[in-house]
Amino acid sequence: MNKNAADLGELFVERNNKKIYRKDGVVTKVFDHKFYSESSVLSEAMNQAYALELGFNAPKVYSVFPVGSDWAIASEEIKGETLAQLMEKDPANKKKYIDKLVSIQISLLSHLTDNLKLPKLKDKLNKYITNSGLDATTRYDLNVRLEKMPNHYKFCHGDLAPNNIILEGDKAYILDWAHATRGNASADAAMTYLLLVLEGDEKAASIYLKDFCKKSDTDPSYVQNWISVVSATKLATIKDEQKRAILLRNINVVEY
Ligand SMILES: Nc1ncnc2c1ncn2[C@@H]1O[C@H](COP(=O)(O)OP(=O)(O)OP(=O)(O)O)[C@@H](O)[C@H]1O
Ligand SMILES: [Mg+2]
Repeated sequence: MNKNAADLGELFVERNNKKIYRKDGVVTKVFDHKFYSESSVLSEAMNQAYALELGFNAPKVYSVFPVGSDWAIASEEIKGETLAQLMEKDPANKKKYIDKLVSIQISLLSHLTDNLKLPKLKDKLNKYITNSGLDATTRYDLNVRLEKMPNHYKFCHGDLAPNNIILEGDKAYILDWAHATRGNASADAAMTYLLLVLEGDEKAASIYLKDFCKKSDTDPSYVQNWISVVSATKLATIKDEQKRAILLRNINVVEY
């Protein structure tokens, strides 16, 4: 049934062609139809439901419905602060919050998934490389590089950054399941590293990378290989010139 935005409560977050409302313990994320299709909204809700089925902490999905020409997901409201808000408020404990992020990520990645509804991470990365606007030779190099990477089938969140984790007391909830895939754990870590760098927090990024590699017993140069590929995929969506310069630098840093 179509609902009115006015019935969804207080508009408390607005960005990236999405509006987030809350009312009576329900958070409604409304996606601008010019940028998000009905099927992409349904697939985000499905990924979130899948994470819950596996026993991970995510907001419960209540419903998916139209709001005017847009589509929306209504979920349980998690009453707490995101790791991003906590890190900003309490920078002295940045390490502790990053440690939390790494532990959550490793628990997700320790799940081998056979869910065929989740896209393969490599297919998704390939598509973004194709749309990156890079020249044909660089795209070819990146595609070859991607092909050589091992095919793992871990449950990857795909956008695991401090603003996508809310702490409610001791319990950490994971939000924003739009980019979930099955794939390689180090690619997921490379994305988290890159998201921290793009937020301008080099220090957090470097603490994160060390911590992730130590806890997952991964060679940092292996994650480094993924950073170049993952950086290329971000070119398709990031317009900010400074951020694009960081991405281009990451792509060129690696010897093919
Ligand atoms: N279920 C929820 N309970 C409480 N707060 C929420 C919930 N869902 C979203 N939020 C708040 O809204 C913010 C944005 O939500 P979400 O990450 O789902 O959307 P997004 O548009 O993809 O955001 P971004 O692009 O910043 O990652 C979160 O960082 C959080 O502060
Ligand atoms: Mg988010």
